[in-house]
Amino acid sequence: MSIFDKVVAAVTPPESDTARAEARAKARAVATPGDWLSAVLDHHVQIESAFATVKNTTDSASRIKALKALATLLTGHSIAEEVALYPALAQADEKGHATMAYTEQSGAKLQMGLLEDLPPISQEFLDKLKHIEGAVAHHVYEEESNWFLDLKSKLPKDAQAKLTQRYDEQFSRYMGIEATVPSRRAAG
Ligand SMILES: [Fe+2]
Repeated sequence: MSIFDKVVAAVTPPESDTARAEARAKARAVATPGDWLSAVLDHHVQIESAFATVKNTTDSASRIKALKALATLLTGHSIAEEVALYPALAQADEKGHATMAYTEQSGAKLQMGLLEDLPPISQEFLDKLKHIEGAVAHHVYEEESNWFLDLKSKLPKDAQAKLTQRYDEQFSRYMGIEATVPSRRAAG
């Protein structure tokens, strides 16, 4: 079993729904409106609902459309984390967490690529989708319960503002939307 297979091997995340809800509430309490952590938490919620939308579709055309929306959101979010947040984790003496974060997201990208080639209305498709959903849920839990709380507490205010701008810039660029956080250079 490759490392990527291992990453998505657990269909059911090891942590309970309650543990995940508690981690999210704690992370929300630490986040401040408009900061990178608020954006990340919003995007995690959107990703969860995008998975549900795919599962709720019953015909091929709507499933393909919903899968595309999920894939776009997942990729936009992960690229923004990989460019803006994980390097900051490494900088904050959390290299092990940063490496794990990149590995898990590469595994999800690999599996999403394979999923796109499966017949959309098939058990095989649903099984793989559930594997990816479980792996993403576990990754999200690791971020919300631990990794991003460390990042929030370890970096000074100025570095936090830089993360917010970088995360927003990368996410917006991939999603083809207007950035909401003004560039620090433009803002002087
Ligand atoms: Fe994330």
